[in-house]
Amino acid sequence: MKLWGGRFQKATDLMVDDFHSSIRFDRRLYRQDIHGSIAHANMLGQCNVISTEESELIQKTLAAILKDIEAGEIEFEVDAEDIHMNIEKILIDRIGETGKKLHTGRSRNDQVALDIRMYLKEEIHTIYHMLIQLQEVLLTLSQNHTETIMPGYTHLQKAQPVTLAHHLMAYFQMFRRDMERLQDCYKRTNVMPLGSGALAGTTYPFDRNLVAKELGFDDITQNSLDGVSDRDFAIELLSGLSIAMMHLSRFCEELILWSSHEFSFVEMDDAYSTGSSIMPQKKNPDVAELIRGKTGRVYGAMMALLTTMKALPLAYNKDMQEDKEAIFDAVDTVKLCLPVFTKMIETIKVNKEKMYQGTQGGFTNATDVADYLVKKGLPFREAHEVVGKMVLYCVNHQKSLDALTLEEYRRCSPVFEDDVYTAISLEQCVEDRDLPGGPAKKAVLNAIEKGKQYIEAVK
Ligand code: ARG
Repeated sequence: MKLWGGRFQKATDLMVDDFHSSIRFDRRLYRQDIHGSIAHANMLGQCNVISTEESELIQKTLAAILKDIEAGEIEFEVDAEDIHMNIEKILIDRIGETGKKLHTGRSRNDQVALDIRMYLKEEIHTIYHMLIQLQEVLLTLSQNHTETIMPGYTHLQKAQPVTLAHHLMAYFQMFRRDMERLQDCYKRTNVMPLGSGALAGTTYPFDRNLVAKELGFDDITQNSLDGVSDRDFAIELLSGLSIAMMHLSRFCEELILWSSHEFSFVEMDDAYSTGSSIMPQKKNPDVAELIRGKTGRVYGAMMALLTTMKALPLAYNKDMQEDKEAIFDAVDTVKLCLPVFTKMIETIKVNKEKMYQGTQGGFTNATDVADYLVKKGLPFREAHEVVGKMVLYCVNHQKSLDALTLEEYRRCSPVFEDDVYTAISLEQCVEDRDLPGGPAKKAVLNAIEKGKQYIEAVK
């Protein structure tokens, strides 16, 4: 017999039972569901909607059910549809009439909204801390590589010299914004919907704030229709997670390139690489590739939920049951990727020589030659033109800018002097870029220090 069976004269088709049952995936909300129900039962007692004895019996039994679920002693039934009715049914099986009072003034619509919010609050917290661990590794790595010169790229063409620390700290900034997005979306998740009922609130004298307080929510939802039909907080989280995965994926893409024979900037630790079943020489960056690949799943989850929600009239619609698999999959994926990524970069071997060599020979100091001329009085556009011609000359003569003789320099512009060589050394090119946000050691150390302070403050 269904908990809602009163109005029906016929049993549901078995195929339909199976079709609309969500217990297969929403079973993972059992803990949130029970804690929510305990808080609800407590409030029903406090507000004299049920007696104190009844409230206590319900709470005690729910706690026992929780234990039994955790001990693996409970089998959920497809027939009972979802986690909410499964637990309620077990409660009624155990304490009969009293158990039937739990659902007073509550609907599965506000119940499920509560459960997802509780679940996501925990997951946001977990993911946030995984990001902190990643950030700490980035800070340590950066600290060790403030003098490791490497080419900076635009269009994947060598552009100007930077340092590995500067490059890594760029990712620190991205992940910092990801952390802020999580914090921000947490605020809107941390709002308690119970008391919204099915859609129009309830006639009982509930104390919604009491429930919110007991469950650790900062506030209560302000409109019952919105309370049951809002999934913005989940969409926000999926957007934030998509952006974080996009950052991870870009990083992975670079590591894949950098570990190729052609670059040889880094080598992944054996523990974070895999081989080929046919080619004995292969050491592949599969971990990085898989993270890059999994990014698509998280984007997919975000698009799926946005699309599910886009034409739903207020308030609850069964379509919304589709939110859970998308949410769970995205959260699981991110939680799978972050720790393995963190370990992978923590153990990476950096080939400083290759990075340095990679910076040479690609005219990465051409801008600095132009800047040299500007300091000697030429307008920048003119200097750009002069150096452009010099680069062409170098290309034709297979030389680098720093290999030109002073005579060759002078032929291009009479203002060149002997000091040009130090001015355009790769080390100098980096060191001169010492504005806040620049790659000079001084600026990067400053950024690292600020990063450390931020992490210490949010830890
Ligand atoms: N299993 C449902 C869900 O996940 C719970 C709410 C169902 N409410 C209803 N009136 N059918 O959305």
